[in-house]
Amino acid sequence: MATLPKIRDFDDPAYNPMELDALSFGRHEDPYPLYHRMRAEGPVHPISFREAVGLPDKVFGGRRSFCVVGFEEASKILVDPVNFSNKAYGENLGRAFGQSITIMDPPDHTPWRRIFQKIFLPQYVTQWGDTIVDPVVDQLMSAFQPTGRADLVAQFTHLYPFHVIYEQLALPKDDIDLFHKLAIAQTDYVNMDKAVEAGEKLGEYFKAIVDQRRAEPGDDLITRLALTEVEGQFLPEEVLISFLRQLMNAAGDTTYRGTSVLLTALLQNPEQLEAIRQDRALIPAAIEEALRWDGPVGMLMRTAVNDLELGGTFVPAGSMVFVLAAAVNRDPAIWPEPDRFDIFRAKKPHFSFARGPHMCVGQHLARVEMTRALHAVLDRLAGLRLDPDMPPPQLRGAMMRVPDHIHVRFEPNGSPPPR
Ligand code: HEM
Repeated sequence: MATLPKIRDFDDPAYNPMELDALSFGRHEDPYPLYHRMRAEGPVHPISFREAVGLPDKVFGGRRSFCVVGFEEASKILVDPVNFSNKAYGENLGRAFGQSITIMDPPDHTPWRRIFQKIFLPQYVTQWGDTIVDPVVDQLMSAFQPTGRADLVAQFTHLYPFHVIYEQLALPKDDIDLFHKLAIAQTDYVNMDKAVEAGEKLGEYFKAIVDQRRAEPGDDLITRLALTEVEGQFLPEEVLISFLRQLMNAAGDTTYRGTSVLLTALLQNPEQLEAIRQDRALIPAAIEEALRWDGPVGMLMRTAVNDLELGGTFVPAGSMVFVLAAAVNRDPAIWPEPDRFDIFRAKKPHFSFARGPHMCVGQHLARVEMTRALHAVLDRLAGLRLDPDMPPPQLRGAMMRVPDHIHVRFEPNGSPPPR
């Protein structure tokens, strides 16, 4: 039996990426008044995203940049990879992930995307709901259910989607904290050297484990990807390893934020939480509304390939184009009273999973995870309410949004009723 490689920590083990949110993504309580003002002035603005929201920019600072807040313009950009390239991500995400599909444009992007997309089709991820998501959720909730109080971020949302992906990849449980640290650090845009180091440490580990799973196949996602062949050849190492690095981050970080926003919104609107308690068929609408209202990924990046005109503004080739998905999701022409969280509003496709060729590969899994998490919260935490003795949850951030804490009370030991 081949020996499993051991994942290595940062050279400076004291480095803590859990603190990176503030500088990398912002601490804004409410960026939406700014987005509404920008939209009122026009759909396209000659400014970079980080400058617009007042964040330092060590990566793209000084480049010709445009922010897009218009619904029509954003829709056009995301489905037009000929004029708007994803290569922009090569300078931030790409430095940690490597040549992941996020950095590629069609036609290079198309065949790899097809392979990865197949793995995350709804029919497969629904099964994972039973085999992986429910057990992970169950284990985490069992730890705090008897106490009658919890911080749902620290004890639940910040853990479960990461644990789900680690289970899918069959990573050794003893090293979960270190995997988590490396996964998160890959998006440390303020300490890019740490993001690169995280990518290197994960990369050397995944190369070894891919070899090991080819020799001794298991029933996990790494084995499946390691054995996938195209025209008699295994996937190119760079594409495979980069995808695994991206999964470690993308699968956990976004769903943690999305679930935290969903729970915050429902706890702040107890009548809507009660409506879902009475009718679980409302859960899908609640998830889509949370994603629209305060989606985890507030901004998407592209590079203009050609000189072009966008919403009446000239955009020269080579410019950075920042699509403010968060602003577009609150366009009052599409969603009346857009700042209101309302699970009963008419369903219209939001921008939180993007559009076009790069639309989120993991969207079906994210929905399954959020659905299972919300069912478990309703099943197990009877009388769930905000803790009156603790500060209420406050969503923070501009590029990515999440509350630091969700302090709640519930009836201790409420046993789960049969579903
Ligand atoms: C609520 C949860 C999630 C949100 C809001 C989200 C959001 C997004 C967005 C906006 C993009 C497109 C970025 C762009 O076009 O610039 C994307 C791409 C991607 N997501 Fe997600 N995501 C979520 C969950 C997941 C999960 C669970 C996985 C893992 C299976 C995942 C894997 C990916 C991958 C691999 C891509 C790259 C696709 C490509 O470039 O073709 N995501 N995601």
